Amino acid sequence: MVHFGVDRDRREVQLSVYLPELRRPGSKGLREAIQADIRRGSLRAGQRLPGSRRLAEALGMSRTTVVRATDELVAEGWLEARAGSGLYVLAPDSELPQSRIRRGLGFDLRGVEVEGERRLHAPASCPLRLVGGTPDLRQLPLVELTRAYRRALRGRGRRLVAYGDPYGEPRLREALARWVSESRGLALAPDQVLVTRGSQMALYLLAHALLRPGDRVAVEALGYPPAWHAFRRAGAELVGVPVDEEGMVVDEIPADVRAVYVTPHHQYPSGAVLSARRRLGLLELARRRRIPVLEDDYDHEYHYEGRPVLPLAALDRDGIVVTIGTLSKAFAPGLRLGWVIAPPELLGRLAAHRRVVDRQGDRVVEQAVADLLEEGLVQRHIRRTRRIYAARRDFLLAGLRGLPVEPRPVPGGLAIWARTSVNPDRWAARAEARGLFFAVGSAFTLDRRPLPFIRLGFAAHDLPELGRALALLRSTSGARPRR
Ligand SMILES: Cc1ncc(COP(=O)(O)O)c(C=O)c1O
Repeated sequence: MVHFGVDRDRREVQLSVYLPELRRPGSKGLREAIQADIRRGSLRAGQRLPGSRRLAEALGMSRTTVVRATDELVAEGWLEARAGSGLYVLAPDSELPQSRIRRGLGFDLRGVEVEGERRLHAPASCPLRLVGGTPDLRQLPLVELTRAYRRALRGRGRRLVAYGDPYGEPRLREALARWVSESRGLALAPDQVLVTRGSQMALYLLAHALLRPGDRVAVEALGYPPAWHAFRRAGAELVGVPVDEEGMVVDEIPADVRAVYVTPHHQYPSGAVLSARRRLGLLELARRRRIPVLEDDYDHEYHYEGRPVLPLAALDRDGIVVTIGTLSKAFAPGLRLGWVIAPPELLGRLAAHRRVVDRQGDRVVEQAVADLLEEGLVQRHIRRTRRIYAARRDFLLAGLRGLPVEPRPVPGGLAIWARTSVNPDRWAARAEARGLFFAVGSAFTLDRRPLPFIRLGFAAHDLPELGRALALLRSTSGARPRR
């Protein structure tokens, strides 16, 4: 204990530090000891510390060491330096008065509506989740991912926590341009790729960069609600275009729309592949009207029958297709890695909007994933999981025989879209009560109209789990067993 007597304000200053007790003698040890004294209250707010010379003498330390420690305590807000008077103890945060924040809204939000969520995701209470969009994360090469993170931080750690490029890490743009070119029949340069946090951010940025309030956007009337939310947030009005076995019925796109949003590869949620005739029709329509086609190529990697159909962008000679991609299915949704492929002029506008929303992406994850793409690890993971998911699709399809459902063909994707003869909402409610989630048709209709369909994701669960899900589907369908 070092006792300094009574200070000018007649307050006794007593430091419980003295050299032999310091675990780490030196400025760090002294700093920690003074912090501990402030925390435990033996140094109180408003007390003045002895001058650095006296402290140094009493502690048997050099004055430089003492000054270094007290300077840092001032910088961290433990002490306050008053000009010409010395160093004073400040109250620790825990002694600050704690204001209770009111939980209720004190202002008027009427007229500022936020569209309600749809039931696309499983509640946490359901152990079996036949969610269409989720890959099996147990398959993820976690060791390699950890190594890539570590490598990124070790090599460029300090640089990666600085401000970065709103277009994404140049190395990832390069790696994506190469991989997307090879896998999708495109010849892309890195300046045609902008990295986003998942396709959702891409859709949000595109909505704000392309649309003015009141603009009409053609979307699939049976489609992907998160995209609709993004367009509506930008003030757009949505026009539903019917969908059939050939995908979006492009002849029914109204004349006055400012953009078309479409899922050509595997129509969401039905899985239909947009036919060649309609692809050409859509491109011709967009070229004539000079409007963009927003192509959501969200699960290109998972195609099981023959070669995957190339994206619309591969046919575009007029700079009208904007393609959105994601690693959410092919790798992991929580990495939040997506991209936009578009002419550089549009990407410049997207980057300007991006600066307003979150300035840049996560540079560490972008570097780590660039590493994995360069090593071919993401590609290997896709090849491996494609085989696994195809087997799960076959297992679930076979197990559905005898149930009151008629599955549509599943050439690719991660879910089965099936017509059902029983009420899908009641079936889903009974299943959920037993711990099984699946989505029902009305979750995907623009006008929230009920639809006699259900969607069963097969990727996230292994065969024994799918077996249990099938047993629950059977016991909760309410239909009499067919022989
Ligand atoms: C049509 C569609 N687009 C995009 C995505 C992926 O979204 P994100 O990249 O934001 O995770 C999904 C995932 O379910 C989807 O179904």
